[in-house]
Amino acid sequence: MRNCFMHSLTLAALLPVVTLASAAVSSHGIPNPAVIAHRGASYDAPESTLPAYLLAREIGADYLEMDLQRTRDGVLVAVHDDVLTRTSNVAERFPERQGSPVSAFTLAELKSLDVGSWFNRAYPERARAAYRNLRILTLDEVIDIAEGNPERRPGLYIETKQPAQFPGIEEDLKQRLAARGWLEQPGRVVLQTFDRHSLELLHQAMPQTPKILLLWVGKGGIEPASGRSFAGTTDDDKAAFYAQQQPKDHAEFERWLDYAKAGGAIGTGPSATRNALGEQSYADLIQPWMIEDNHARGLLVHAYTLDDAVDFERAMKAGVDGIFTNRAGELMRFYGRPVAQSEGQLLRTLGY
Ligand code: G3P
Ligand code: CA
Repeated sequence: MRNCFMHSLTLAALLPVVTLASAAVSSHGIPNPAVIAHRGASYDAPESTLPAYLLAREIGADYLEMDLQRTRDGVLVAVHDDVLTRTSNVAERFPERQGSPVSAFTLAELKSLDVGSWFNRAYPERARAAYRNLRILTLDEVIDIAEGNPERRPGLYIETKQPAQFPGIEEDLKQRLAARGWLEQPGRVVLQTFDRHSLELLHQAMPQTPKILLLWVGKGGIEPASGRSFAGTTDDDKAAFYAQQQPKDHAEFERWLDYAKAGGAIGTGPSATRNALGEQSYADLIQPWMIEDNHARGLLVHAYTLDDAVDFERAMKAGVDGIFTNRAGELMRFYGRPVAQSEGQLLRTLGY
């Protein structure tokens, strides 16, 4: 059914449905529709690094998205994965600890890793010599980037990642954001988590700051209709598996919206299925009835993680209020918002 719908889209239907030069601002201070640069401009530069966030800022994204973890010596850092093997040279630098979580490393140890070269190997067509030896960023360094150009003032969209590993991280985050004056600006920070308990702790620590409960079908999330578990091996197997995953029923989906409301969230962040499937394609939780259910409860909907016009179009038609994307420039252009230069030109101007 989903594929029939998408194959029937005409070229005209792929044109931007939103032609505003800039996004309207919702009552929570959040632009609508919001451009959320997922791990920075992570299609064009290594995720969660200086060039990825600088590029997202210069593109004009509304938010720099980051996954928050804590070092062994208590510093908040932007790292997505539990372990460092995919995106760093940890296997060469610390072979005996390559499978250890981020929390097992001090900041100095993490700062000794190269978190850029993997990108050049994985994406040779987007490789740049200057990506070699990029460093993991602290939260404060991401804030510095967000504050670094008075003409571009992106907010931060911060996820507590695996928060059970980091007791007290919600309070730590509050302390850093407050120290930097970031809690006084409505909508400049949005907090996000898959974890209902972390949502409650975030709400206790920062009751006035908008929060999003991320939605997911599977373990720790929405109960699936099928009891089948993933048995494939490739990213495409995984994407095909998730594309067939559905909430057990409407009531189970709506239960999670009620959890979001009860936990203090002003919206949800549902997963979405990509037309082309692939690594970041998940269960489709942006079907129109699902968006209607959110809006009926006064909840915003920010879908993750879409990069292509066909997917932007479907999400906007379904009624979402913002999109997480690795390609913030593409989403800006889709919305009819100006981007000063191409990503390549911007990267060169930034020195990459
Ligand atoms: O935070 C929204 C989206 O980023 C969730 O997925 O795994 O990329 O953090 P993930
Ligand atoms: Ca995230």
